[in-house]
Amino acid sequence: MPENHSSIRTTERPTASPGEPRRSSFVIGLVTAVATAVFVFWSGWPAQNDGEANAAGSSSGDVQVATSVCDAHALRAAKEEDPHLEIEIPAEFERQWPSASACQSAVDAWDPEAEGPMQPIPFSHKHHAGEFEIECLYCHSGTDKSQAAGVPSVEVCMGCHLQFPAEYDQIEGIRILKQHWEEKKPIEWVQIHRLPEHVQFRHNRHIQAGVECQNCHGPVEEIDKLYLVEDSHIGYLVPVAKLEMGWCINCHRQNNQQASQDCLKCHY
Ligand code: HEC
Ligand code: HEC
Ligand code: HEC
Ligand code: HEC
Ligand code: HEC
Repeated sequence: MPENHSSIRTTERPTASPGEPRRSSFVIGLVTAVATAVFVFWSGWPAQNDGEANAAGSSSGDVQVATSVCDAHALRAAKEEDPHLEIEIPAEFERQWPSASACQSAVDAWDPEAEGPMQPIPFSHKHHAGEFEIECLYCHSGTDKSQAAGVPSVEVCMGCHLQFPAEYDQIEGIRILKQHWEEKKPIEWVQIHRLPEHVQFRHNRHIQAGVECQNCHGPVEEIDKLYLVEDSHIGYLVPVAKLEMGWCINCHRQNNQQASQDCLKCHY
């Protein structure tokens, strides 16, 4: 795959309209449930904004002292592995939210060793689309109706995150998100899938024909840090990489009743 498929787009990238996000009642219920639980745990405690996600616990003598809620989750997990470990969790960090998996996903989505570009915010699909089952179309709204899929606007993110307490600010990604919100700046996500200009691709035709997102993008809901998942289809004994012409045509051949192999359908 040529390097230029992965480039930074700033202005032209379509943003899914915040005006009509597909607010399924499920998602609303989910957010309400999370927000309620969060507030229950939060109430009565002062906000702590200075902790760092998964910061190493400071040790006093042989005792590991937690320095944030995320750190407390990590120390508890470490003690489960090694019962001899001496840990101390100050009362202010003795709580459930942010969840241990949110803390972990934020770290994994920013793992420099993992495949895929470093994004401006460690946003995890595994956490949002996997664990919390937020629908793809909630964030990528219009994918079924228009050519482009687009990425969600800051408003869509904040529709949920404004309801979360300041506790979440210990996760750096949340602080960066809020900074963009306050400064009314779009987030400059690094684009992963990009076709050359001479090729025409329409999401809506594919979604309407019943092709699943995962057919083309892989198991997105299991991945913290997105990357261009390789295709292992060896339809005609030739392995093809994603986004190459052979990849499109292989699938169109397999769907030959419907999908076109006419050059001019894909090329301007
Ligand atoms: C439908 C509600 C919803 C929307 C929309 C949403 N989030 Fe979240 N977000 C959550 C929930 C729920 C959690 C996890 C809370 C927990 O487990 O403690 C979370 C966790 C996170 C985390 C920590 C875990 C991780 O993924 O690194 C970050 C960072 C984050 N969100 C950023 C964003 C950004 C950026 C957007 C917009 C692109 C966004 N969120 C949109 C609900 C939402
Ligand atoms: C809570 C919002 C949210 C949900 C839900 C969500 N996404 Fe995303 N998606 C994003 C954001 C933000 C980005 C840009 C950052 C990144 O690439 O991780 C993105 C990027 C992507 C990309 C890469 C785009 C590129 O740059 O080429 C694909 C593919 C994708 N999402 C597919 C999906 C699929 C499939 C689902 C459902 C299983 C889904 N998304 C659910 C917010 C979301
Ligand atoms: C038939 C294959 C296919 C299917 C199915 C598909 N996509 Fe895509 N997707 C692509 C291709 C190809 C691109 C690159 C398009 C381009 O550069 O014009 C892309 C790009 C994207 C992007 C980046 C768009 C941008 O504006 O930066 C996102 C996000 C995305 N897809 C999400 C989804 C979601 C969500 C679904 C399911 C609702 C989905 N895709 C279904 C092939 C597919
Ligand atoms: C996983 C299977 C699959 C892949 C991969 C795929 N397509 Fe398709 N494509 C389809 C199907 C099925 C249809 C038929 C949709 C319909 O019935 O309208 C279609 C239709 C189309 C059409 C409309 C054709 C027409 O008759 O107007 C275009 C253009 C197109 N695809 C371009 C692409 C391009 C470009 C790629 C690669 C970047 C691609 N497709 C990859 C399954 C696929
Ligand atoms: C189903 C969609 C599809 C069809 C049908 C299709 N192409 Fe392509 N074609 C692509 C895609 C996607 C690329 C970009 C591949 C890449 O960048 O690796 C491409 C690239 C090309 C290129 C440029 C190759 C290069 O190295 O940059 C040429 C030339 C080309 N196609 C010719 C044709 C001809 C001639 C036909 C008809 C026989 C045809 N294509 C039919 C999707 C299609």
